[in-house]
Amino acid sequence: MGQAFQATVIKQLDRDPGSNPGGRILPNLYFLYIQIKSMAGLSKDWIKFYDKTAIDRETALGKNNFGKIGPIKIIGENGDRAWIETIKSRLKNGMRIIDIGCGTGIHLREIHRATNKNVKMIGIDISPGMIKVAKNKSRKMKNLEFFVMDTYKTRFKDNYFDIVINRLGVKSNKEVFRILKKGGYYFLFVTGRDDWKEMVKLFSFKKSDDLRFHKKLLKEAGFKITKIKKYSSAEYYKNVGSLAKTLDIVPFKPPFNRKKHLAKLKKYAVKHATPLGIESTQRRVIITCKK
Ligand SMILES: C[S@@+](CC[C@H](N)C(=O)[O-])C[C@H]1O[C@@H](n2cnc3c(N)ncnc32)[C@H](O)[C@@H]1O
Repeated sequence: MGQAFQATVIKQLDRDPGSNPGGRILPNLYFLYIQIKSMAGLSKDWIKFYDKTAIDRETALGKNNFGKIGPIKIIGENGDRAWIETIKSRLKNGMRIIDIGCGTGIHLREIHRATNKNVKMIGIDISPGMIKVAKNKSRKMKNLEFFVMDTYKTRFKDNYFDIVINRLGVKSNKEVFRILKKGGYYFLFVTGRDDWKEMVKLFSFKKSDDLRFHKKLLKEAGFKITKIKKYSSAEYYKNVGSLAKTLDIVPFKPPFNRKKHLAKLKKYAVKHATPLGIESTQRRVIITCKK
């Protein structure tokens, strides 16, 4: 691909949702973009976005996904919980596990709490803000470390990890393949086709995280996909404020803007009000791969 064309693609796609699969662009083009970006590094704007949303992300996610008392309820199959359980069931004493694009490290901490196995856990993220929160929150946990690192260019040796996990992040599958041991597992957590379909419609936000595409990239990297499991549920937000809080941390580009979008969101809240709260759709998928 010519340099000028690459520059045009980057310029065009920089205006669209960034580091997480999603956006007003075609899947093929999006993944091309990710590949180019992997050479150029994630754009500074995105790192800034993640730095800024690190603290809020922790609040919204922690309460959302792990059934603790909080503003968001999940009714139906809890994909997050299932992901943690799937990973936990594969842990054995002496193993090494890494979460790539770990954010605030919330999922590693959840796995740490859930297991009684002696496992070395590492989380990496390109956002120093996320890693700062992760380190702070994990101070008292043994065998759990966090580093600022690009998932496309990690500093680990070949065949180093027994398990690699990734939730809603950039999937540098080739690098994962390199650092994973032969016979090791890669557990991906991705959004399904109708995930958040109401928000997608409300903000004309077209998603591009197509399952076929994940499969293609995983196979290209050398993985054997051993299982794909879909989870359906509904999420309920206590009020417009809690829904806005979640929207704040989603990498939309341009980002969700309270001043501009709140009126629209209020209308949505009225239309989708239920006795449990403001409803939206959750569709999550766990992809299990083996090297
Ligand atoms: C949508 S968030 C998901 C975070 C976490 N996995 C979770 O589920 O809460 C995506 C994360 O990927 C990180 N990220 C994006 N590109 C990255 C890269 N090239 N290397 C490492 N981390 C990256 C972002 O900083 C962000 O924390």
